[in-house]
Amino acid sequence: MGWNSWNHFAGKVTDADVRGAADAIVSSGMRDAGYIYVNIDDTWEGERDAQGVLHTNSKFPDMKALADYVHSKGLKIGIYSSPGPKTCAHYEGSYQHEEQDAKSYAEWGIDYLKYDLCSYGDIIRKEAGHDDAKRRQMQIDAYEKMHKALVATGRPIVLSLCQYGWNNVWEWGPSVGGNLWRTTGDISDHYDSMEKIGFGQLGLAKYAGPGHWNDPDMLEVGNGGMSDDEYRMHMSLWAILAAPLLAGNDLSKMSPQTLAILTNKEVIAVDQDAEGKQGDRAFAAGLTEIWIKPLSGGAKATGLFNRGDAPTKITLNLKEIGFSSKAKLRDLWAHKDVSATNGSYTVVVPKHGVALLKVSE
Ligand code: GLA
Repeated sequence: MGWNSWNHFAGKVTDADVRGAADAIVSSGMRDAGYIYVNIDDTWEGERDAQGVLHTNSKFPDMKALADYVHSKGLKIGIYSSPGPKTCAHYEGSYQHEEQDAKSYAEWGIDYLKYDLCSYGDIIRKEAGHDDAKRRQMQIDAYEKMHKALVATGRPIVLSLCQYGWNNVWEWGPSVGGNLWRTTGDISDHYDSMEKIGFGQLGLAKYAGPGHWNDPDMLEVGNGGMSDDEYRMHMSLWAILAAPLLAGNDLSKMSPQTLAILTNKEVIAVDQDAEGKQGDRAFAAGLTEIWIKPLSGGAKATGLFNRGDAPTKITLNLKEIGFSSKAKLRDLWAHKDVSATNGSYTVVVPKHGVALLKVSE
């Protein structure tokens, strides 16, 4: 859990913005709710010197000082690069400088690297053409190379794979040291994008587990392009998916509603449950879907989702999800216990909304 600069600041992010995010993550209570990583995305990179050492650009005058500042707040700091010669925003990538860059990260005190395929895709296309096996192997090799370079520094650095879910990355992500891997293209701050990505994560549950997670991309909660019901759907789906929760909004200007969505402790507990099991879809009927995530102690987080454009009644049958009619139900957004009648629970779910329940015997 943490924050990443891209979804709000994109190419404009500066040292001051990152410090501001670190300040706000603490003062808002987000750090205490579990948001620990403060991650700088693309556009911090400057030029390489004659020895090939990569320096920061003028937006980031002193990366070590910035890392020290973030650490002084009880937080960790992340950075971004590409296995290609250029990043997606056309800044300097790590191609043929992997060891050197990993060493710089360790010297600065970096704790997390998002490694984004970007221009390495061109090299793969050139060398592998349509040979799928070779394309896959070239990606494996590129990520493995950076993993080894990070390990060689002796500093524990989380490795986040970003290659948009190509070549079934979930099958090989853990073997190249990936702690998380993007399963999709980029999210944007629109309902259609979030809905398509979130409900598109079917069948990936078995690949996630403690230390290696499917990543359906960062949160857009609070960026302004969706309603609060839509943001609650976003947060609930990501929690059921045991997804990395990386806030992507401007933390220094957050509404109380945004903060309440991001710091709902009962929803975060679903995402962070100790068993580390990812949930999946259990039922779908028209535009309503029920998704279930097994929790420790035999409980189940159960999301009743309405993808339709009008409020809709959704009924949960307790027996169908393996519970007796006496099971306990708690509504995690309303923060209240609710009860079933004759073994089922019916609720009116708003347009693009969700009722997220914890069900236990
Ligand atoms: C790609 C990634 C995004 C972001 C940008 C930065 O598009 O998928 O998450 O990191 O690059 O340029």
